[in-house]
Amino acid sequence: MRLKDRAAIVTGAASGIGRATAELFAGEGAQVLAVDVPASAIATTFEGVAGVVPLALSITDPGAAERIVGEAVARFGRLDILMNNAGVSGRHLVDQISDDDWNRHLDVNLTAQMKLSRAAIPHLRKSPAGRIVNVASVMAEGTDLGLVAYCASKAGVMGLTRSLALELGRDGITANYLLPGAIETGMTKPLWDARPDVADIWAKKSPLRRRGQPIDLARAALFLASDEAAFITGHGLNVDGGLMLRV
Ligand SMILES: NC(=O)c1ccc[n+]([C@@H]2O[C@H](COP(=O)([O-])OP(=O)(O)OC[C@H]3O[C@@H](n4cnc5c(N)ncnc54)[C@H](O)[C@@H]3O)[C@@H](O)[C@H]2O)c1
Repeated sequence: MRLKDRAAIVTGAASGIGRATAELFAGEGAQVLAVDVPASAIATTFEGVAGVVPLALSITDPGAAERIVGEAVARFGRLDILMNNAGVSGRHLVDQISDDDWNRHLDVNLTAQMKLSRAAIPHLRKSPAGRIVNVASVMAEGTDLGLVAYCASKAGVMGLTRSLALELGRDGITANYLLPGAIETGMTKPLWDARPDVADIWAKKSPLRRRGQPIDLARAALFLASDEAAFITGHGLNVDGGLMLRV
């Protein structure tokens, strides 16, 4: 029960890493507001799971950050942990990307993290252990063809999180980010099911010889959200099975 008496927000919680994290946080005693878009299965994902309250709302809607934080505080009377996980990806070469595609990546992957952090800060300040855990990607440091918007948004998450850590440390709030490698989720599975050879390449690139699972990230998020990580802030934690070791 490492999160007993804590209240958390997890975005992108209907699928993949967010879903596994919301379940694990609740299993460790937290009350969790699980946010995802109305078109997702968020309304039914956590049926029968104690401690998780679903909220169907896009984090890019005007005023969404204030609504999400307000809902968490109204339901739980407090807010201790913000897990900014929701994300989108797509492939667009830089000479072909539309303004809409660029803006969608930046809005979901980066700007919403800042807005939710900003809205959460007054409540995290009241917590004995305020925590922000932002999800970046190994593609914040590396890149690949067609990932210009994704990489730029994820590199922004690193800068955002380090700045949050610097500014909020005096309030006892930590801010850290995760850099997932190749993880089997709603974002990757359709591609890998269609191209098992590509899925296999990702597994072989890792010294641990497998692709990551959502629970691998959830466990890392739990550590950063727990009391055990009280003196860790501004840190990026690779959860990639060693994927990025090889040049
Ligand atoms: N899967 C990987 O290999 C991998 C690698 C590196 C980083 N990541 C990052 O991990 C995070 C989680 O992704 P995942 O792999 O679990 O993918 P996923 O597609 O399984 O889950 C992402 C969730 O975010 C939700 N979401 C998207 N836009 C939203 C919005 N506007 N408002 C609310 N929710 C929204 C989606 O509906 C979805 O349920 C993302 O930030 C992603 O960039 C994933």
